[in-house]
Amino acid sequence: MSPAPPSDATTTAPDGRPVAVVTGGTRGIGLAIARDLAATHHLVIGGRSADSVADVVAAFPSAEGLVADLADCSPGGSLETALAALATRLPRVDVLVHSAGVLRNGTVADSPVQDWADSMTVNVVAVAAVTRALLPALRAAHGLVVTVNSGSGLTATPASGAYCASKFALRALTDSLRQEEREHGVRVTSLHPGRVDTDMQRELVEFEGDEYDPGAYLDVDSVVRAARLAIDAGPDASIDMVSVRPRGWRPAT
Ligand SMILES: NC(=O)c1ccc[n+]([C@@H]2O[C@H](COP(=O)([O-])OP(=O)(O)OC[C@H]3O[C@@H](n4cnc5c(N)ncnc54)[C@H](OP(=O)(O)O)[C@@H]3O)[C@@H](O)[C@H]2O)c1
Repeated sequence: MSPAPPSDATTTAPDGRPVAVVTGGTRGIGLAIARDLAATHHLVIGGRSADSVADVVAAFPSAEGLVADLADCSPGGSLETALAALATRLPRVDVLVHSAGVLRNGTVADSPVQDWADSMTVNVVAVAAVTRALLPALRAAHGLVVTVNSGSGLTATPASGAYCASKFALRALTDSLRQEEREHGVRVTSLHPGRVDTDMQRELVEFEGDEYDPGAYLDVDSVVRAARLAIDAGPDASIDMVSVRPRGWRPAT
């Protein structure tokens, strides 16, 4: 069955622009995707701190903030309150990019349970909460959801069990959502970058005790281009999964 056409909400978006919501829009991959969309979209920039969100919002021609701690998914908590306000304000969402994420390093033997809880909450539960709140607006626009997953959502490695488990779970969430929303015209893309030159990468390299060499990792703009494959796909196409790795990358043996 073909999905119903997009509703009249198409005519009432802020500034008449399509709307893109980007979690983790204050830094790294999320900020790079937001910059790329800024010329054409009204942006909603997600982040934890009102100041850092305001700085990013001020740099774009059409933007607003979504200030919320994604680690607080409790009923009536800051995320639920911020999402309820956003969902009432936005009649349509054309693109929802889930880029916010946390990396907790350590073996199962060494990792405190809180690391597992933080990883699952921010990397999985919050993605479900944000998506659920914005689904009516995504359906109204026949929008696209992009989850920024990871190579760690395809292959698990030692000393990163909590992160890998959360990204495997995110892949399952994404796969379920894609099938559920097909009839509503919402497309869902799972984006799996390898190691990217961002603050998160610096944390990982410090944990590994190595020197940081930015040239060894993907540039954020290469991840933006991979996201663009999904954003620019024709209306007849769904880019279900994209894996983008540093050139020359080989899986660990
Ligand atoms: N870097 C890599 O090598 C790499 C590779 C594959 C996949 N990824 C994935 O790509 C995504 C982006 O990573 P990145 O490298 O851009 O990370 P990053 O530079 O560390 O930025 C993380 C972003 O997530 C936000 N965030 C973290 N915890 C949050 C919370 N509790 N509530 C709200 N926002 C929160 C941060 O907001 P604040 O500014 O408020 O802290 C920031 O905007 C993540 O999902 C990551 O798992 C990264």
